[in-house]
Amino acid sequence: MADVYTMDDLISREVLDAGAAKPARLAVMGWPIAHSASPRMHQAALDAAGIAARYVRLEVAPGRVGEALVRMRELGFIGCNVTVPHKFEVMAACEVVDDAAQVLGAVNTVSFEAAQTRGSNTDGPGFVRAIADEFGVALGQLRVVVLGAGGGAGQALAAQCAMQGVRRLALVNRTLEKLLPLAARLHAQAPDCEILTLALDDPALAETCRAGDLIVNASSVGLKPGAPSILPASSLKAGQLVYDCIYQSTPLLEQAAARGCRTADGRSMLIHQGALAFQRWFPGSEPLAVMRAAVAGES
Ligand code: ATR
Repeated sequence: MADVYTMDDLISREVLDAGAAKPARLAVMGWPIAHSASPRMHQAALDAAGIAARYVRLEVAPGRVGEALVRMRELGFIGCNVTVPHKFEVMAACEVVDDAAQVLGAVNTVSFEAAQTRGSNTDGPGFVRAIADEFGVALGQLRVVVLGAGGGAGQALAAQCAMQGVRRLALVNRTLEKLLPLAARLHAQAPDCEILTLALDDPALAETCRAGDLIVNASSVGLKPGAPSILPASSLKAGQLVYDCIYQSTPLLEQAAARGCRTADGRSMLIHQGALAFQRWFPGSEPLAVMRAAVAGES
């Protein structure tokens, strides 16, 4: 597995590629970054496609994202993925940002095109594909409840739901105030979508959740072992779809499965957003199966 690189390594090709058989041409940038699953997935896809390049982890402090993009471009990088906490800072650092990424309010994929540095977002479309894959339904057909809708990931997913034509969207957050600007923005974007906002301790939460077809956890609750489920069990009913963006089983998913819900964790979204990013850099490639195997630990 590739080591973690820092801004000091983005000085020259000699420094960056010292001792490596293939040149670093792609990266995932975050702070911290050591935990990222992206290198494993993308390196497997690069190797399978016969592309002589390394995908590395890049640790970039907040405030230095623009500088990192300039240096990567100078060093001949093809692109990079962007993760927490840089998905907003990078938007301002790109010369062009795709319309969909602007609507989602975040960039997770950068392409160093000949004329410009372009920002796009594959998290939202990756989520749409993950729901179709896991549950065999189109997101736009569902009434959706987004837990953690005030966080960075939750805002992007909520905007994607509105973009897909979801008829009823319940935005839930511990801190209610964070939902108000989002709700106003989504209402302007999708006037036909019924938008509700609730705090996690709202007495109507359980009923609102039970009225949804799909409940999505986009909060960080469930990441730390031992934490209780983000929802009381009475919020769930048999047959509902429950998706947790966390890449492993969580107390919410266990509770939902026990209540007869259909559940899935965030690995499918990880794989789909990764495959869509790879296809932006390498149009015509088909990296999905290889990436899926790499995440499952088969390569
Ligand atoms: P980001 O920087 O993307 O906003 P974050 O601060 O980890 O990431 O928060 C992500 C989401 O998880 C937010 O919706 C956050 O709720 P608040 O907006 O109220 O902070 C939610 N979250 C984090 N810890 C939580 C907890 N213990 N209980 C409920 N929600 C929590």
